[in-house]
Amino acid sequence: MTGEETGFHPYRGNIKPFISALIESGEVSPTGRFLDLGAGDGKIVVDAGSLGLNSYGIEINPNLAQQWEENIRSGREHGKTPDNSRCQVVLGSYYPKEYIFLREQGRTIAPRYEDGLFYRSYGSETVCCDLGDERDRVFHPVSSDQDPFKALGFHIEDVDLFFNYSWGIELPSVLEMFSIFGRRDSVLLNNSAGYPVEHKKMLVEMGLVMEPILFKGRQLTSTFWENSDSVWRYRKRL
Ligand SMILES: C[S@@+](CC[C@H](N)C(=O)[O-])C[C@H]1O[C@@H](n2cnc3c(N)ncnc32)[C@H](O)[C@@H]1O
Repeated sequence: MTGEETGFHPYRGNIKPFISALIESGEVSPTGRFLDLGAGDGKIVVDAGSLGLNSYGIEINPNLAQQWEENIRSGREHGKTPDNSRCQVVLGSYYPKEYIFLREQGRTIAPRYEDGLFYRSYGSETVCCDLGDERDRVFHPVSSDQDPFKALGFHIEDVDLFFNYSWGIELPSVLEMFSIFGRRDSVLLNNSAGYPVEHKKMLVEMGLVMEPILFKGRQLTSTFWENSDSVWRYRKRL
């Protein structure tokens, strides 16, 4: 099983300016806790650690363990990450068992089918894109038998800033999980492949707000959703 087969695709942009902007604006504490949901090779964890955050990741693909260990070690050796910041990735799924339970009970709203995500439910508020033969892909999130937060030593509510780079069909479930289990004032940064950026009704139902990231009045988020700078910030509606 290669990384590609389980969806590993490294974020190609530079995440640091987005995180720095949130620290500068006071939304995230400079010594806050960062969690990459689906950490891949751990490079984003190292980048967040290099800014002084206590930086963690959860990754489901065991074949990437050697790469994330190596990247964390090399980040330390080359002085990228301060000695006092934590950098750690653990194996597991970031979906809590409780979320999967709610889904099985039909008490969630995240679309399960790519077809539904892009073409139904949200009518004129959905920006459609042509998925060709992939239109009917179905998404089945899973949780781990062993809770990865136990291995990390903290709870999901203790996370100040989340990052997630996922495929379009996965994003609604990630957002819903964040809306239910994230702390009220936590922030989620997302760079999503193939996701229509206008999905207002779903976000309202989830109680979330999606915003571009600003730094000193300049917008860092590109509105072209295929661009590596299309990192959006989600937070709970106050
Ligand atoms: C597109 S890659 C992004 C990797 C890294 N965050 C980055 O931006 O470079 C998504 C990663 O999420 C992982 N993933 C997918 N679903 C997951 C889950 N439920 N729990 C943990 N990891 C997951 C995949 O194995 C893959 O490595």
